Amino acid sequence: MACIKVLDQNMINMIAAGEVIERPASVVKELIENSIDSGADKIVVNIEEGGRKLISVTDNGCGMDTEDLRLAFEPHATSKINSSADLSTISTLGFRGEALASISSIAQLTATSRTKNSLQANSVSIDCGQNKNLCPASADYGTKIQVRDIFYKLPARQKFLKSANTEMNHITECFKRIALANPNINLTLIHNKKEIYNLHSGDGLKNRIRSLFGNSVAEGLIETSSHEKNVNIKAFLGRPEISKTNKNTQYFFLNGRFIKDKFIFHALNEAYRSQLEPNRHPAAFVFIELPPDDFDVNVHPTKIEVRFYNSNLIHSLLLSTIRQKLLSTNMDVSFKTSPENFERKQHIKDAMEDFFKKNRPAAHQQNMPFSSYTKNSANKPQFDSRNFTAPSMPESSQSVAPKNFIQIHNSYIVSQNDNGFVIIDQHALHERIIYEKLKKRVSKNSLESQKQLVPETVELTQPQAENLNKNLDIFEKLGIQIEPFGPNTYAIHSFPLLLTKADPADFVIDLIDILDSKLSGTNSDQLLDEILNMAACKAAIKAGQKLTDDEIQHLLDQKEKTDYSSRCPHGRPTTITFSIPELEKQFKRT
Ligand SMILES: Nc1ncnc2c1ncn2[C@@H]1O[C@H](COP(=O)(O)OP(=O)(O)O)[C@@H](O)[C@H]1O
Ligand SMILES: [Mg+2]
Repeated sequence: MACIKVLDQNMINMIAAGEVIERPASVVKELIENSIDSGADKIVVNIEEGGRKLISVTDNGCGMDTEDLRLAFEPHATSKINSSADLSTISTLGFRGEALASISSIAQLTATSRTKNSLQANSVSIDCGQNKNLCPASADYGTKIQVRDIFYKLPARQKFLKSANTEMNHITECFKRIALANPNINLTLIHNKKEIYNLHSGDGLKNRIRSLFGNSVAEGLIETSSHEKNVNIKAFLGRPEISKTNKNTQYFFLNGRFIKDKFIFHALNEAYRSQLEPNRHPAAFVFIELPPDDFDVNVHPTKIEVRFYNSNLIHSLLLSTIRQKLLSTNMDVSFKTSPENFERKQHIKDAMEDFFKKNRPAAHQQNMPFSSYTKNSANKPQFDSRNFTAPSMPESSQSVAPKNFIQIHNSYIVSQNDNGFVIIDQHALHERIIYEKLKKRVSKNSLESQKQLVPETVELTQPQAENLNKNLDIFEKLGIQIEPFGPNTYAIHSFPLLLTKADPADFVIDLIDILDSKLSGTNSDQLLDEILNMAACKAAIKAGQKLTDDEIQHLLDQKEKTDYSSRCPHGRPTTITFSIPELEKQFKRT
């Protein structure tokens, strides 16, 4: 008995629609992309009830004549490719010829279009793939497509639509992606007659980001670019302060198309490694341009995934571009009076007040830090940095040059610089300094270790001992020589010089713990990173530890020489800067 039937075209379209049209936002994406492909530079998107009631996209592009309008809604009808060879050099957003056929099979659709050199517009309406009707209409040149009552004949699909709010959030997200990829197009988004975005071409990418994500994101970005081996990269990288607990401010584009790609994600995360606190994600807007035959977009119906022919090259160029920029940028957090900083600000203010109360200067004021203000004729404090380099003042009883720092609460160092002053968290900074040194030396296998005159012993349980024996290579890499010494006891014969401040037995136990908890599923780079982190933390100067002037000076000198010194290895800030203009604003002098 024959049971097989060939499906009719409308069924085929509806099935195809299932792949391309997931929800109203997918319709919005396809329609705006068509408008962009038509050469439009002005696109207005008008939505009602999260797209459940109406999705309308109007453009001023090339338009369609009667014949094109008739054909555009047929399956696999496209003006964008002719032959299979064209598939490898696609420069338009669409090419599959599926979108209009799919959309018109699942909703009521009206398209009105006029080419530039025609006086007459035409309109076609289709009701869920049926009753196609074409007639003359009056309209400006360009195309307007209106989609009403999506899925109204498909209750099973309609059931999956979420509230108007949720659907609108998806639409807005889709609009943002397209808007970022096309800064040269005027784009408007209207919801329930209210304008959500009105973006102008020519304002530049940074301003587009500002309009879409707000001032604090835009101001927290560092711009960089590179051009190497036919790969052009332009990136706006978020400073750690604007990092998020989710990846919602990470946008990657390839030749004007928003994409998601695991190699790009990985390169970004690698570049930011140890710059951010755990579970924070950087904001990043990355734009990659490649020759069209270096990747394949025909991997997935929604074209959000691509296949790079040389993904290693893309990965390494991105990683180096981002890393170099982060490395060469001063990431010290500047003191701003935004609400999130308020608590920290209050804390520092209290600590400083407390300090000055307890240490009110007596006679030799000119040698105190912060004393090098001179007054100009307007009685405004002017900073004179020469005071810090000149020999001590004649009135001074001391003969050493005045220092430009103090330690407060045995935890923070306040140091004056040309633009104001900085507050440094001594533990966090020292942690970063040790971490960077350890990392460099371990990677070059040049970590110096010291023979212990009297080896310290450490007691290990049976599982701990087994773990130690399994990982002797890691111990060796770190310059820790450890051998059995008695029942359950091990002797530590040598220990890294850089970690002299850490207690060897304590360190060995912690190291074994990390190895134990991380054995499965962590790659060796991440594991080593975690170990170095722990080592740096143990060996660093602690909060509450009094430092000599020499030690402080040494720490400040090292800061200058250390990569990523603005953040501790866990990503917390080491330094907060206070600029003179900011202080003047705070004291209401301006
Ligand atoms: N806004 C528009 N302006 C001009 N032509 C359009 C527009 N939208 C669609 N078209 C025409 O209709 C064809 C089919 O569109 P679509 O189904 O989205 O397939 P694709 O974009 O993959 O070619 C396009 O190739 C194009 O020629
Ligand atoms: Mg299309």
